[in-house]
Amino acid sequence: MSDQENRKRSYKCVTEIIRFKVAAVHLHFTKRFLLRSVVSGRKKTMSTCIIYFPLMAVLLTTSALYNAARFKPATQSSVFEPCYAFKGVDGNYDVINFDGIHTQSELVPWWMVDLRGQYVIEKIQLTNRHDYSIDIARRLRNFVLDIFPTDPRQLANFSSMIGQVCYNQAAPLDPGTFNFTCPVPIVGRYVRLIMRAGYQNFLHICEMEVLVSRPSSNLEENYFIRQVDTAISDAPIMTMTASDPLCCLQECLIRRYTIFCTAFNWVTSTGSCQLFSVNLFLNWTNRLVFTPETYFFIQNNATL
Ligand SMILES: *[C@@H]1O[C@H](CO)[C@@H](O)[C@H](O)[C@H]1NC(C)=O
Ligand SMILES: *[C@@H]1O[C@H](CO)[C@@H](O)[C@H](O)[C@H]1NC(C)=O
Ligand SMILES: *[C@@H]1O[C@H](CO)[C@@H](O)[C@H](O)[C@H]1NC(C)=O
Repeated sequence: MSDQENRKRSYKCVTEIIRFKVAAVHLHFTKRFLLRSVVSGRKKTMSTCIIYFPLMAVLLTTSALYNAARFKPATQSSVFEPCYAFKGVDGNYDVINFDGIHTQSELVPWWMVDLRGQYVIEKIQLTNRHDYSIDIARRLRNFVLDIFPTDPRQLANFSSMIGQVCYNQAAPLDPGTFNFTCPVPIVGRYVRLIMRAGYQNFLHICEMEVLVSRPSSNLEENYFIRQVDTAISDAPIMTMTASDPLCCLQECLIRRYTIFCTAFNWVTSTGSCQLFSVNLFLNWTNRLVFTPETYFFIQNNATL
């Protein structure tokens, strides 16, 4: 991941805060105008509200989406080496020198990512390969993008059952990057790409992004353990501001392979996001200090 991309991400989180702050201010003024208009019954103030309401709605609905799939655990029905499942979420979008996911030739090949938390999924961006010939890319057809709140692999009918469908397409998919917007935002944790062409074939894609708005509840990440009113006393490798712990978590995740981020402090009052590379195999608990209004998050290796 380039610095430019990292900056773009941070910028997204920042614009998101600004949007919410502006929306909050509008909400405040709308309330005041409404109260005043009720008290005074003046028509002029009511017409001001008519302008404020749609403006507020636009500001609230255009809040930035972000990719919740990057670096999350992924699996697939089989492996055509070395195109392992994680390559679908590794941030490599090079469609020419294809280095994505690739299964063996199967009747119902599939790939699935575990977001490690319940998210509100709005769109799925799929990048198809563009090497060799268009016909290779166009092997991808009769595919469904479906979403599950719990791990569907335990179900005996995994291959035939269908989760909440974000998108499906019978026609072959051309090379390129496509945004598939779910018919309604779908809350879920497991996002599956499954192909039922009716004959044996390979499933391969370059990259998938699962674009989410907010987590469905406060912070349902199982990927990191959270400790309230706690901070680690190490010197941070990087410090930045983040609008919420989830943005800070994302900043840590995108740096897992550069600074090997495994933990972070998030200070509620300032939004300070401090990233650490904590060795999870050594005992780090003696470096935790009681710090009011600070959350400490560390990668959870215990559950998978
Ligand atoms: C698959 O199994 C689940 C749980 O056992 C069941 O609820 C569902 O109806 C089944 N779906 C199909 C398509 O058979
Ligand atoms: C898909 O949507 C996201 C978020 O709205 C946007 O950033 C991205 O550029 C879009 N991708 C394409 C290929 O249009
Ligand atoms: C880690 O260190 C703390 C404090 O020194 C101690 O209480 C805890 O038992 C240790 N944990 C392990 C797994 O050794």
